[in-house]
Amino acid sequence: MKRRIMIKYLTILIPFVFLYINSYSQTEEWIVPKEKKEVVSTFNFTDENIKSGESLYQKNCLSCHGNPTKGNFAPLQPSPGDPASEKFQNQSDGSMFYKITEGRVLMPQFKNILSEKERWEVVAFIRSFNKNYVQPALAKIDEFKGDAVNIEIIFDKENRQLIAKAIGTVKEKIEPVKKAEMVLFAKRYFGNMQIDESKRTNEEGMAFFRLPEELPGNDSGYVEFIVRLNESSFGDIQKTALIHAGLPKNMEKLTDQRAMWNITRKAPVWLLISYFGGVLFVWSFIVYILLQLYKLRKIGSEVTNNE
Ligand code: HEC
Repeated sequence: MKRRIMIKYLTILIPFVFLYINSYSQTEEWIVPKEKKEVVSTFNFTDENIKSGESLYQKNCLSCHGNPTKGNFAPLQPSPGDPASEKFQNQSDGSMFYKITEGRVLMPQFKNILSEKERWEVVAFIRSFNKNYVQPALAKIDEFKGDAVNIEIIFDKENRQLIAKAIGTVKEKIEPVKKAEMVLFAKRYFGNMQIDESKRTNEEGMAFFRLPEELPGNDSGYVEFIVRLNESSFGDIQKTALIHAGLPKNMEKLTDQRAMWNITRKAPVWLLISYFGGVLFVWSFIVYILLQLYKLRKIGSEVTNNE
């Protein structure tokens, strides 16, 4: 009997012990690989960068980290902390960039949400609260110094991958754009969905994106893809292509049925019934009361007549 009670208590206790150990390990120091600590931006932080960093921060970080210097960050465990604080500022640009890129538990991963440039701009914004900050020497990159950049999109049906090729022209000669960041999206009704991770173009200027097996397309199975290339001297370049790579999906038309999201005049039946039911009920109640009042008056006048 005693043993059974002990086992019962133990089974209740064990999850709590794990929870405790887990929360303990989460508050541990966030270790950044040495080579990542030394990573530096490829561009100088200008007022313009800081400004776009600010709007990116407000969209993506404010909810947890609060307004820098105000200390109004969310009460989470581990604490997000104030980006203007000494603890936050007391790390290399590379560390900050790494943490934003990779995330950890509650801190989201921004690898596939913000482009490299955007992540650096957020860093630039965070650094603008540190008067003692001096930006380290820039990273050397092979920036593409051509006249124009174009993106070609090829669908490799056999391997279910999309090949995006960035080619530029340098004095009318064609050259691949190497080591540039490329991101692939599929267009949706609301916003775009990123497909696969962001890639860097290879020596031939190509990046390979793996497509999911089941990608919903339009009625005939076409998907609209968007490839975004980030080449610092050109900024963001986009290319869209309609490719037969999805499953045909017979989406319910927005106007077809008596659906809630219908955009024509066909209201859902249940809505009509409940609305008219409600109106009828209220009106019948009013009529009933009026009838009763009328009856009262009649009785009243009968009583006075009888007296
Ligand atoms: C959902 C809440 C949430 C959002 C949104 C969020 N963070 Fe965090 N962030 C956290 C938490 C929690 C931690 C602490 C994580 C830890 O120590 O494990 C953290 C930690 C960090 C750190 C490391 C801080 C340090 O002291 O070393 C950086 C840098 C950071 N966040 C930057 C950002 C940036 C930039 C954004 C927006 C692009 C952002 N975070 C969005 C919750 C969030």
